[in-house]
Amino acid sequence: MFPTMSTLDPARAALIRRLPKVELHLHIEGTLEPELMFALAHKHGVALPYASVEEVRAAYKFDDLQSFLDLYYAGCDVLRDREDFRALAAAYFERAAADNLVHAELFFDPQTHTVRGVAMATILDGLHDAMAEARTKYGITSALILCFLRHLPEADALATLEAALPYRDKFIGVGLDSGEQHNPPSKFVRVFEKARAAKLHIVAHAGEEGPAAYIREALTLLGAERIDHGVRCDEDPELVNELALSQVPLTVCPLSNKALRVTPDLSTHNFAKLLRAGLAVTINSDDPAYFGGYITENYLQTAEALNLTAEELVTVAENGVRGAFIASEEKDALLGKIRDAASDI
Ligand code: HPA
Ligand code: ZN
Repeated sequence: MFPTMSTLDPARAALIRRLPKVELHLHIEGTLEPELMFALAHKHGVALPYASVEEVRAAYKFDDLQSFLDLYYAGCDVLRDREDFRALAAAYFERAAADNLVHAELFFDPQTHTVRGVAMATILDGLHDAMAEARTKYGITSALILCFLRHLPEADALATLEAALPYRDKFIGVGLDSGEQHNPPSKFVRVFEKARAAKLHIVAHAGEEGPAAYIREALTLLGAERIDHGVRCDEDPELVNELALSQVPLTVCPLSNKALRVTPDLSTHNFAKLLRAGLAVTINSDDPAYFGGYITENYLQTAEALNLTAEELVTVAENGVRGAFIASEEKDALLGKIRDAASDI
């Protein structure tokens, strides 16, 4: 299923590569490459249902979100101790540095791990080990966003928040992910209310496979500051207008949308339409080990398929910075770096 690499013209490709980029929608468990999956399976004596790395990659053919989630949760079984979580995130940051990434806000799914007996502290400590290394080694800043699994009851999400609050300083926000259909934001009003009381940032996946009405619910019932995916806002023209006015960022993941058939092809993706309507859209990579490309590849293939101009690519990178949960001085510094990288366009 791996897409052919982009053949974008050299000038825009070079601009994309040198632009400082921000990642606002990345599930750290979705960066588990088959090679590391095998190494960790070997370490822990876990039997995988695949004979080789190639067989794993060959299994990455998805019909929809659920067909992906089944494989993604199964893959997580090899993540067991603090060093595993460190190794997972360290491998991600090495790739991110090569992509000229400057800041990442990483999702993690604690319920996928705590149900197997992994402690909350083990997950957080391992991820923070790698985050500290990334800051020193590459100058990449990062933070964590804890996601609740929406296919499970709200009571599980509440218990997860309770288990995480002793480590409040180790994550900056909460989100909502997993199977969207029939699991509306309204199911999670109480847990998000508690999260807001703990002064956590709020995001939610909405309008990936679910209807535009879920985006409205995420905004009004949960207090979402950003919408993850959000591409189905298009079905509600009034909502599109409101998103343009409010500048609530949409963290769009084009290669994910293609792999999970949210859009038949990148050339039919509504990213350019939303960008040109003035929405604060950003480009992100979601689960890059599964969808065939990290952030630079997402930018390259989207630019090529939708003919984004150099100026539009700069706007997208700026939208990422503006949408980040960082201080305004940090935003100004990163926007200055983008201007420098784009000074000759
Ligand atoms: N959507 C919902 N849940 C997820 C995703 C996604 O794209 N990736 C990992 N968990
Ligand atoms: Zn996602």
